[in-house]
Amino acid sequence: MHAIHITVTANRAEQYQNLLPQISAVVAPENDLIANMANITAILKEALQFFWIGFYRVTPHKADELVLSPFQGPLACTRIPFSKGVCGAAASQQKTLIVPDVEKFPGHIACSSLSRSEIVVPLIVGGKTVLVLDIDSTAYNDFSVTDQQYLEQIVALLCKHYN
Ligand code: SME
Repeated sequence: MHAIHITVTANRAEQYQNLLPQISAVVAPENDLIANMANITAILKEALQFFWIGFYRVTPHKADELVLSPFQGPLACTRIPFSKGVCGAAASQQKTLIVPDVEKFPGHIACSSLSRSEIVVPLIVGGKTVLVLDIDSTAYNDFSVTDQQYLEQIVALLCKHYN
């Protein structure tokens, strides 16, 4: 077990560049999906300190519903249909969604009134959405293509669990 090295003063791109190989090293030897999701959320929360960071995954019981999975942050809603919220939209559209102001996103699910902006990154395997990574910030417009670029690489590390 290794400690995660966090660069406190770096800008966000540098933080991701520092974190990505460390997250990859943590995920690579572990074959349990839940364990890897748990450590990814813990590392991202400790390093980037967003308000809420967590996964929702599709389970074998229902193909078009996301179920709350490992997360860091306050209590969250447990099930999100593909037809609801930013998470459902990213899952059904199969693309990363960046929402600068959640109140302007039709159907946004407010798990907390403190959330202002959000990014949701889906993982698509064999043409199907298998999980999403959802990050909420208390600041407006807190996510950019920089976050998208690195978070998509982090989420892709979980592909191996579906092969
Ligand atoms: N805001 C999300 C719901 C999940 S919580 O933010 C943790 C959405 O609209 O899908």
